[in-house]
Amino acid sequence: MAYTVSNLTDYSAPALEKAAAECTAACIVEAGAVRSEADLKAFRDRWLGRKSGILTQINDLWLKGAPKEAKRDAGMLVNELKTRITEIFERAKVEAEVRVVVSGVQSQVAVGTAGTIAVAESVDISLPGIRRPIGAEHPVVKTSKEIVSVFQKLGYSVAEGPVVETDYYNFEALNFPPNHPARDTQDTLFIAGQQSKPQRERLLLRTHTSPVQIRTMEKLRPPIRIVIPGKVHRNDPPDASHSPMFHQIEGLAVDTNITFGDLKGTLDHAMKALFGSSVKTHFRPSYFPFTEPSAELYVTCFICGGSGKRGSDPCRPCKQTGWIEVLGCGMVDPNVFEFVKDNGYDPKKVSGFAFGMGVDRLALLKYGVDDIQLFFQGDVRFLQQFG
Ligand code: PHE
Repeated sequence: MAYTVSNLTDYSAPALEKAAAECTAACIVEAGAVRSEADLKAFRDRWLGRKSGILTQINDLWLKGAPKEAKRDAGMLVNELKTRITEIFERAKVEAEVRVVVSGVQSQVAVGTAGTIAVAESVDISLPGIRRPIGAEHPVVKTSKEIVSVFQKLGYSVAEGPVVETDYYNFEALNFPPNHPARDTQDTLFIAGQQSKPQRERLLLRTHTSPVQIRTMEKLRPPIRIVIPGKVHRNDPPDASHSPMFHQIEGLAVDTNITFGDLKGTLDHAMKALFGSSVKTHFRPSYFPFTEPSAELYVTCFICGGSGKRGSDPCRPCKQTGWIEVLGCGMVDPNVFEFVKDNGYDPKKVSGFAFGMGVDRLALLKYGVDDIQLFFQGDVRFLQQFG
């Protein structure tokens, strides 16, 4: 039987409580039966309608009809009921909006936020769930970690530094004097609006990971052995072998009596660990302002094994030379130590070597990918192959 408001004759506390409890219980039951927008409207009219809704009736019968001495208690009761019933209505409204019935095979009608009717498919809870594919390491990250771990096994630790760098760390302290032409080889991307600052404080996107050599030597006294993985930027238009953003791994070892022989031995070992024990290494003279002497390291092409040929075809990755350039390196220039001399790097007492390699380039060679852009386009069809 549907709930109706009856007259109140007994205004004692227990009687008032009982009447209120009956009213709220009925309201909750009716709210639970709301299934559609039409149900919700009918529910609101019946309980909250201004003219003849149940709350209005309660107000008239229980409050206005109350004897003087009971007015206070009856008033409080009616107010409480108003709050309760409004709450029940609001909840019924929200529940109607999100209702998805899982019983049976019929579709279920639910009330949308804007009062629209949405048809929710019934859900078969015995069906398997949606499988979310598990992510995998990006080939560049994977290569970077492999290189880092080869050096960690030799006792190197990992250091990092900022991608937005000052002119001082990126150039000056690495022995690129202001206006030196060697700066032109780095195609630097400068941060705008820096002209009012002294040159050494001006910001740029670091063009190599070498500034972290200085930052680390400022913090740690010798001896040190570190590798520095990170992002670098150069003003190169993107093509199959260039990207304005790419990755490097830097290495730095400083101690007493470090020689070029240590550099050669370390890098030869690292190349064999990375590319296989049959790989041969070879050094050619080069130039970097922060190393002296400087060299480029070549390894035998791991595509053609050094022959320069693939069957009867020319080997492309090594341009038929049988050798692939993998990094720049050299003995730390004494002028670089001068900038960190106060932290124990007296060029008369210590010596060191440094090297820097392009991770993306090595990843290209390692996985036989012919376009560096593929690494940064985020195309799942490409990336899935490394999962
Ligand atoms: N920083 C150099 C470059 O980006 C590479 C390098 C690092 C060379 C350390 C020598 C020593 O080209």
